[in-house]
Amino acid sequence: MKKQRIAVLASGSGSNAERIIQHFAGSDLAEVAWIGCNRSEDRAGVYDRTRALGMETVFFSPDALKDGRLLQLLLEEEVDWVILAGFLLKIPEQLVSHFHHRMINIHPALLPDFGGKGMYGMHVHRAVKEAKRDESGITVHWVTAHYDEGDIIFQAKCAVAPDDDPSEIAKKVAELEHRYYPRIADALIRDAAIQHEHIDE
Ligand code: GRF
Repeated sequence: MKKQRIAVLASGSGSNAERIIQHFAGSDLAEVAWIGCNRSEDRAGVYDRTRALGMETVFFSPDALKDGRLLQLLLEEEVDWVILAGFLLKIPEQLVSHFHHRMINIHPALLPDFGGKGMYGMHVHRAVKEAKRDESGITVHWVTAHYDEGDIIFQAKCAVAPDDDPSEIAKKVAELEHRYYPRIADALIRDAAIQHEHIDE
């Protein structure tokens, strides 16, 4: 199978986007071919992070996401997989169905708890703290048109100590994300490639 082309969509600091680009640099399986952000450069660190790795992040408007222009662009770029990395907008049905089982998201908590609209960034970690949970973690899931509702692919947990504040929880969760998200993406793409090879035989 040809080398798979990944698009990464981000809205914020881009630390996961950075790890994903680094992971696939030099891979025979896949490459990050396109990075898009719905926020302007002064509001999202992802532009600087990707530039430092020699890749430009492209701005697109929320309207382009909704009216199909983003999908068109991804088709022109011959994108095979979409990885959401801190992307905050809802994905329209058209995009979801085009990338069925080829679009993943990471959520900074153990879904189905602490997910849904408004549950992003520090809101999540504050809610975990308020609920006095003794563990949190990450969830990688398939993307649907509803926030944080797709089938769960992978979870990893970290302990939350009684005196951990939300920023300490965030740090533990970010470490898990950086350790596992690129590897989970790699495993999914590899698995799909093996199945594809089998079908072609
Ligand atoms: C991560 O916590 C991710 O789980 C969530 O948004 C955050 C993005 O962080 N979806 P970054 O922009 O990758 O640094």
